[in-house]
Amino acid sequence: MGKLSGKKKLVVSVFISGRGTNLNSLIEFSKKKNSPIQIALVICNNKNAKGLNYAKKHKINFLVVNYKNKNKAENKILISLKKNKISLICLAGFMKVLSRKIINIYKNKILNIHPSLLPRYKGLNTHSRVIKNKDRFTGCTVHLVNSKLDSGKIILQKRIKVFKKDNEYSLAKRVLKVENLIYPIAIRKFIETTL
Ligand code: GRF
Repeated sequence: MGKLSGKKKLVVSVFISGRGTNLNSLIEFSKKKNSPIQIALVICNNKNAKGLNYAKKHKINFLVVNYKNKNKAENKILISLKKNKISLICLAGFMKVLSRKIINIYKNKILNIHPSLLPRYKGLNTHSRVIKNKDRFTGCTVHLVNSKLDSGKIILQKRIKVFKKDNEYSLAKRVLKVENLIYPIAIRKFIETTL
């Protein structure tokens, strides 16, 4: 994939599992005048995910896949990605680990947002671990996805203070707002500097 020139937008698929606030933020971003992306497909492993409503509202193609059989699920996903000519995948609260197959096909073309200051707190329950360790700062990270969990190259990170009165819920709420804010910025940065 060469440099983006003129008005050509990068065709993106967003993967979700639940609420979808990051998806919503990316959709809003894609609708901005100078946005470098177009969201052509939403992939979801949970038919009851609230986030699917954003895809419906904005008439974006979506595919719900049953992950009971991971191999079958990923084959379906790959067919759909190809059909929709997807060049970039943005994981946004997608709770499944992608297999090497997809990661290799979309090498350096998969981004994820994680609610911690990576490399600290890979995996789940980041906010409760921050509280338990009495950390003074936390934040969120947009990074490239490789075959190791939450370990790919960091594209953008934003730090916020942890207050004494914070608990995991108040922290999750504040970090999420920052996530929604930085994901589009990170995508723009990634496209302008890396692709
Ligand atoms: C976010 O905190 C994201 O960092 C994590 O899962 C959450 C998804 O939130 N991986 P939403 O579905 O985008 O609202």
